[in-house]
Amino acid sequence: MVPATIVLGTQWGDEGKGKFTDLLAKEMSMVVRYQGGHNAGHTLVVDGETFALQLVPSGVLYDHIVPVIGNGVVVDPFVLLSEVDMLNRRGIDTSRLRVSGNAHLIMPYHQQLDALHERHLGKSKLGTTKRGIGPAYADKAMRLGIRVQDLLDEGIFREKLHASLLHTNKVLTKVFNRLPVDPDALADKVLTECLEPLKPFITDTTDLIHEALEADQHVLLEGAQATFLDLDHGTYPFVTSSNPTAGGACTGAGVGPRHIDRVVGVAKAYVTRVGAGPFPTELFDDVGTKIVDIGREYGTNTGRRRRPGWFDTVMLRHASRLNSLTELAITKIDVLDTFDVVKLCVAYEIDEVRTEKLPYHQSELHHATPIYEEMPGWKTDLSEIRRPEDLPAEALNYLKAIEKHVGVPISLVSTGPGRNQHLRLPA
Ligand code: GDP
Ligand code: IMO
Ligand code: MG
Repeated sequence: MVPATIVLGTQWGDEGKGKFTDLLAKEMSMVVRYQGGHNAGHTLVVDGETFALQLVPSGVLYDHIVPVIGNGVVVDPFVLLSEVDMLNRRGIDTSRLRVSGNAHLIMPYHQQLDALHERHLGKSKLGTTKRGIGPAYADKAMRLGIRVQDLLDEGIFREKLHASLLHTNKVLTKVFNRLPVDPDALADKVLTECLEPLKPFITDTTDLIHEALEADQHVLLEGAQATFLDLDHGTYPFVTSSNPTAGGACTGAGVGPRHIDRVVGVAKAYVTRVGAGPFPTELFDDVGTKIVDIGREYGTNTGRRRRPGWFDTVMLRHASRLNSLTELAITKIDVLDTFDVVKLCVAYEIDEVRTEKLPYHQSELHHATPIYEEMPGWKTDLSEIRRPEDLPAEALNYLKAIEKHVGVPISLVSTGPGRNQHLRLPA
């Protein structure tokens, strides 16, 4: 049996997971999304053509890949079908796509509740993507969720929708003063518009993944969101409602840890975050604006400006522990090409004490002052560099400093959005 590989985000999302998943998928047979939903926006750029994927795994562009939506994902059936349609219209064959019958459905009322919760929080809002992710996972945990397989039995589907809306309609009407949702009308709409087109995709994906592993096929588990948006390990409550960390790959795909031997942590050469929450190395000055402008740091599907900051090795060391990272893949180093100086956060000062560990108490993270190691910039266009020996000494120095402080080898470096814009560093 060939063990599986995980590709996951090590910061606050949008590190370039889509780009590296697409790149590594060349050598894989199957790509599995294991958590999250259409809050994700994974961008692939191939031969100058851009694909922004939300639910469909980033291996879909290859003919040899079986793209799988695992049981840990929350699926909006309307969004999934429109993404499939978009891919088909652009000449991509989606017939091999498989969706777990155990994945939970996002219904329109989850999306409505997400927006209402955010409005209700006022100044304390989380800045969610308003895709219904939190409410759908909440229903799953409350045992009020509806699974993809329920669509296959009309009686069960209607019954579950009734039971779930018995609760949700009370929340909508009594807490938020909104109109109730008619379960029968919604069931009619979902069954009429989604059942037939989704049917061929629905299967037991855990079995499918194990059959692939047992046949010595290479399986890649694709994370969405990132380590510090993890429900358990992230900067709670400013997190998503699933587990993007490596453990989430096991539960969200149905494989044990011994089936995995490679964990690729994707990190941007700096840090960005969308939505609220602590961010020690955040930049509020012209340097931050320059990163946003050059890096085009606006959300792939929400269009929101991303908050910029310097690379934080304290966070990355913690991410390495949480995920058992075996290697790092660094993206967007080209964004720093014109900078005179580049900085790495190597420790924090909290209440006049230096610490190299992420503080356990989150209120300390809110007033942590980063301690930086400064290095000269390389002042060279890296976008066409494909061999490590062609990297300017300053750029190599920056990468080596990241490796040293994080304690994980860098295997891949991305120098532009295109599939071919990368180089492999020798082990
Ligand atoms: P993901 O959510 O982790 O897949 O990342 P996103 O797709 O949301 O955001 C990454 C953005 O950076 C996308 O627009 C990519 O096309 C782009 N990108 C990826 N790698 C590089 C790189 O090395 N350099 C530059 N300039 N852009 C990159
Ligand atoms: P990819 O996979 C960046 C953030 C939201 C918000 C928080 C909770 O493209 O890296 P949610 O809608 O999940 O309940 O929002 O999580 N967030 C992301 N930030 N990239 C993402 O996905 C994100 N998905 C959610 O901005 O702060
Ligand atoms: Mg993204």
